[in-house]
This record gives sequence, C-alpha cells and structure tokens, in this order.
Amino acid sequence: MPTVADRLNIHLADWNLLYTKLHHYHWYVTGPNFLALHTKFEELYDYAASSLDEVAERILAIGGKPISTLKQYLDQTMLTEAGKESTADEMLNAVIRDFQTFVSSMKETTKLADESGDAVTTDLLNGHMEELQKQIWMLTATSKGLPVKV
Ligand SMILES: [Fe+2]
Repeated sequence: MPTVADRLNIHLADWNLLYTKLHHYHWYVTGPNFLALHTKFEELYDYAASSLDEVAERILAIGGKPISTLKQYLDQTMLTEAGKESTADEMLNAVIRDFQTFVSSMKETTKLADESGDAVTTDLLNGHMEELQKQIWMLTATSKGLPVKV
C-alpha cells in the first residue's frame, strides 16, 4: 500500500517529465500557431517547474524523501517522453492526454490523502488539478475537435 509521500513522488516524476517534454514542444513546434503555442508551452513548463518544487517540499514537510535524479523520474513517471509528435496538433493532443492522465492520478492521491487526514496535500493537489483542467479545456479549444474528458 503506497503512502501519500510515495504517491507524491510519482507526481514529482510526472512534473519533471512534463518540464522536459514541454521544452521539447516549445522548441520544435512549427506552423501558423507557432507564436501562441511556443508561448503557451513556455507558460506550461514554468508551471511544471513551480509545481514540482511544491510537491517535493510537501513530501519533505510530511517526513518523506523526494526523488531527485533523472533516472528516478524516468523510472517512476506515469507519462512518456516526447516521441514522434511533429505537428502542432499532435503536440497539443499529447499534452492534453498527459494532463488527463495526470489529473486522474492526482484524484487517486487525494482519496488516499483524505483517508490519511492529510487535507493540506489534498488542497495542494486540488490547486494543481484545477489548473490542469483549465489548461485541458483551453488546449482542447485550440486543437481540432478532440473531446474534453476530465
Ligand atoms: Fe524559450
């Protein structure tokens, strides 16, 4: 049975994966929406950077040990690195799918945190889920017709 800290380490790995993946998209996106998407991906990797630090420091605050190497992040993330996505739409859809996976995973953690009486962790994750759900809506509105599912 994983602890809340174990679950948070998975989220820490996911934020680190996204931090790198969103840089890849920021650099390689092309097309008529380049300027908007280049800027959006930068906003999102900045959000990943601040969120990963919040998650790591929450792990420390509850007596856990945040994982801190790239190998650990790759071993523990639920997401996958950037692949062959080459069009703006493929990149958008990959980010939307990752955010959906991430929100589902965070929902599981809030159940565990609630059972453990850890409302502060639930609050932190609720904030992250609120932001990702907003981004899923905006990215979906930008992409071509992918249904919103959160
Ligand atoms: Fe840049």
